Amino acid sequence: MKPISLTRFLIEEQHAGHINADLRLLIEVVARACKTISTAIGKGALGGVLGEAGTADSIQLNIQGEAQKKLDVLSNEILLEANEWGGHLAGLASEEMDHAHPIPHAFPKGNYLLLFDPLDGSSNIDVNISVGTIFSVLHCPDEVTEPHDEHFLQPGSAQVCAGYTTYGPSTMLVLTLGRGTHAFTLDREQGSFMLTRRDLRIPEDTQEFAVNVSNQRHWEAPMQRYVADLLAGKTGPRGKDFNMRWVASMVADVHRILTRGGVFIYPLDAKCRDKGGRLRLMYEANPMAFIVEQAGGGASTGRGRLLDVEPRELHQRIPVFLGSKNEVAVAVRYHTDPA
Ligand code: F6P
Repeated sequence: MKPISLTRFLIEEQHAGHINADLRLLIEVVARACKTISTAIGKGALGGVLGEAGTADSIQLNIQGEAQKKLDVLSNEILLEANEWGGHLAGLASEEMDHAHPIPHAFPKGNYLLLFDPLDGSSNIDVNISVGTIFSVLHCPDEVTEPHDEHFLQPGSAQVCAGYTTYGPSTMLVLTLGRGTHAFTLDREQGSFMLTRRDLRIPEDTQEFAVNVSNQRHWEAPMQRYVADLLAGKTGPRGKDFNMRWVASMVADVHRILTRGGVFIYPLDAKCRDKGGRLRLMYEANPMAFIVEQAGGGASTGRGRLLDVEPRELHQRIPVFLGSKNEVAVAVRYHTDPA
């Protein structure tokens, strides 16, 4: 049977009373922007979009002090431009922008807030490995007409929608509206995202982990012990062999886990302790945690549920443990109950 399009999926959700027209429009607009980003990425060196933003003498940095790639900047502009004028948003915030961006007065305003990481895993762009876009949708607090940073500081459990697009061998959009997690594949001839997996379920157990093991010496003791036990394999305390995969694009690693199980961990370490972690709570951890929980997986900071964290700042960082439910629980137990 021919798969249904994202448009039809969303219209059916609206007719069933699960979403309103504004949220439907918002998701359609984000999906359209992701198709434009996908086209730019697909051109690679031919499109002149690879490499660092700025000039050879002065590389452009984002608010986190990281060098921006040309595609980081371009993807941010595409999402910003696409979402500003449709009337579905009150404001938006991006990992690549210093502060939240209220919708300009020239345009109609809606009641949603959109957060995004325009291009996650951008160190992989120049080597032609999968990257992605992550997004999260919140309600704008009542009576706020000009949302600023503080209005975005809502726990992940308040998200009404989250998703990501992975630009890999095929371009896929994975989405949750709080009623399961669904995957759509871009049909390049038709230019439409088509529903190819309804209600993804992450296997509860796994023998696969995704961790940047080169940071081992910087980790806290419980994380050191947990990974040592994984590596000990069949003859160690876990009694089974584990395989390791690390793409270094969170979107690609999470997509693998949604497809066949696994656990993804970016823990606290001595290098990122002062910042609170490596990954961003609002642009990476929260949307991915929502998507993973809706697919039956677990998502934790290593000490508590990720979606319950009360954010303190827009660009806050956090340790992330997510994936197969039972394995996440084991990893967390090493931290909360070392005995
Ligand atoms: O944005 C952060 C990110 O690029 C993630 O997509 C990825 O999981 C991680 O950083 C890679 O970290 P590292 O450079 O330590 O491998």
